[in-house]
Amino acid sequence: MTIRFWRPAPSAALHAADQAVNRVSLTHSPSALRNDIDEEGQGRFGAQAQAVRDTAAEPDPLLEVRNLRVSFSAFRGEVKAVQGVSFILNRGETLAIVGESGSGKSVTARSLMRLLPKRTTRQTTGSIRFKGREILTLDAKELRRIRGAEIGMIFQDALSALNPTMTIGEQLMEGLLYHKHLSKREARAIAIKMLVRVGIPQPELRLKQHLHEFSGGMRQRIMIAMAAVCGPDILIADEPTTALDVTIQAQIIELFQELQRELGVAIVLITHDLGVVAKIADRVNIMYAGQIVESGTVDEIFYRPQHPYTLGLLASMPRLDQNKDEPLEPIPGSPPDLFAPPAGCPFAARCERAMEVCSAYPPQMTPVADGHQVACWLQDPRSLRAAQPSVKTVIR
Ligand SMILES: Nc1ncnc2c1ncn2[C@@H]1O[C@H](COP(=O)(O)OP(=O)(O)OP(=O)(O)O)[C@@H](O)[C@H]1O
Ligand code: SF4
Ligand SMILES: [Mg+2]
Repeated sequence: MTIRFWRPAPSAALHAADQAVNRVSLTHSPSALRNDIDEEGQGRFGAQAQAVRDTAAEPDPLLEVRNLRVSFSAFRGEVKAVQGVSFILNRGETLAIVGESGSGKSVTARSLMRLLPKRTTRQTTGSIRFKGREILTLDAKELRRIRGAEIGMIFQDALSALNPTMTIGEQLMEGLLYHKHLSKREARAIAIKMLVRVGIPQPELRLKQHLHEFSGGMRQRIMIAMAAVCGPDILIADEPTTALDVTIQAQIIELFQELQRELGVAIVLITHDLGVVAKIADRVNIMYAGQIVESGTVDEIFYRPQHPYTLGLLASMPRLDQNKDEPLEPIPGSPPDLFAPPAGCPFAARCERAMEVCSAYPPQMTPVADGHQVACWLQDPRSLRAAQPSVKTVIR
């Protein structure tokens, strides 16, 4: 179920996108742009966009991910699950990562804690800097110290993430004993406080119970308690409200908001529920086929979305002002094959506004407003310039 909420229709954004379409020749060829694209396919404006991003970034972000690439070995070959993801997370903020199923949200999240399966992971490159330390090169001991103590994770599947043979109390206290070196008595007292904090009644009794004795909503609360019990700087929550009914969803979201207010924790929230995003996120990364295609503040994304995929996502969600019988508009088509990702824009095959250049070259992240960037040729200054007649052409 999806939380329904009120947001005005993104008509201003649609208008802006249409204007951009009118400015750009829909047939201009890739060769017109070739001169602006350097050997790495970055282009001068790619470097310029990077510079804008760097100055827009906080001086000391808590987490900084640069050009993260992850692939897996599979029967059919190499699955390129994450292809050059970059973002920052500031202290105390909520960053939502949104996208269709298979877009690489969970793989990105697991990479942040180096929790990818060893057997099938073929490549993990790029950089993940957390409080100045490079996660990708940490040794096993340092990693263990970070996991749970400094970064807590709420997994997509609570059932498989919790140990069915241990009591809830043992699992809650484990982290406190290991990371905080507390006595059993102290750890138990904190575990009880944490259960109260996440809204579990009769905490002393509940500590002695096993997972199967809890309902879906309660299990999710316990997962949150476990991830937050050591007071981490970051909570990564992968689809924390999926499979919960709408009332419980709202309670879990409120719980996140309270934890953030009280503990000052930064949250990476992974979801495909835009209702949840609108409610709690500060900033949003829209992911498609292993890439971030648009990134901005929650207001920029909801009121001034620029990427055709983001517009499609917004059009496919229910709105309060919508007639109940009016059908939602899903985005036609399906995402590209990650075994052989397209050379150009990954959304080109589904995009109503695709131009010739879109299938030939990947669009680079282009700043469109303060802290708002989009990877779409419609917004790229090179694209606009290619549509203008050159001085030579005019003189001739
Ligand atoms: N261990 C693995 N081996 C092979 N392919 C994998 C593995 N883990 C993920 N993938 C593939 O990587 C891609 C991204 O997966 P991911 O789980 O990150 O998607 P997601 O955005 O979290 O989707 P969902 O919304 O369904 O959870 C998918 O195509 C998936 O099949
Ligand atoms: S770059 Fe992609 S999203 Fe943008 S117009 Fe081209 S195909 Fe559409
Ligand atoms: Mg997932």
